Amino acid sequence: MCKTWEELEKSILNCQKCKLCKTRQNIVFGVGNKNAQIMFIGEGPGADEDRLGEPFVGRAGKLMNMAFEAIGLKREDVYIANIVKCRPPANRNPEDDEAFACLDYLRNQVILVKPKIIVLLGSVALKNILGKEYGITESRGKWVEKKGIYYMPTWHPAALLRDETKKIDFIKDLKLVMDRIAENNSLA
Ligand code: URA
Repeated sequence: MCKTWEELEKSILNCQKCKLCKTRQNIVFGVGNKNAQIMFIGEGPGADEDRLGEPFVGRAGKLMNMAFEAIGLKREDVYIANIVKCRPPANRNPEDDEAFACLDYLRNQVILVKPKIIVLLGSVALKNILGKEYGITESRGKWVEKKGIYYMPTWHPAALLRDETKKIDFIKDLKLVMDRIAENNSLA
């Protein structure tokens, strides 16, 4: 486990732990406030993210930014990362061995950020973080607490692009997150 961001970033620079290293343009490490109270975890970089080296900068990311604005959250205030840091070819889901190889980096990021809340964006994030027994349809909008961290599973923003009706759920789930943070900070 790396004790500093510098160490962690250096350790990943030349990562060849899985086959995604062969097709990536950039490692998409993560972005945002390194002391954030809220962390967002997506699935893996798409074409835009691979090109630019930053998570959620494509269409799904733009929609997520709009949702943030709607509930008064700033992208710069949260930390955003993915289950895998290199793009799965043709945007397929990350395979189990790829997620497994990458997960230690993400765990290390969680330890360094120390978020109070982690928002799990979609099924891949949910299953890899909380377990294969969780399904996104039943789990979204419901808190799961583990080792002092509160997890909020919700739809992946790309799902909102396919089905507009999911936008309402997404905003509702993010509002639950904002309410918990406000409550928590008023007690502090
Ligand atoms: N989808 C993801 O899951 N992550 C990104 O960074 C972009 C799209």
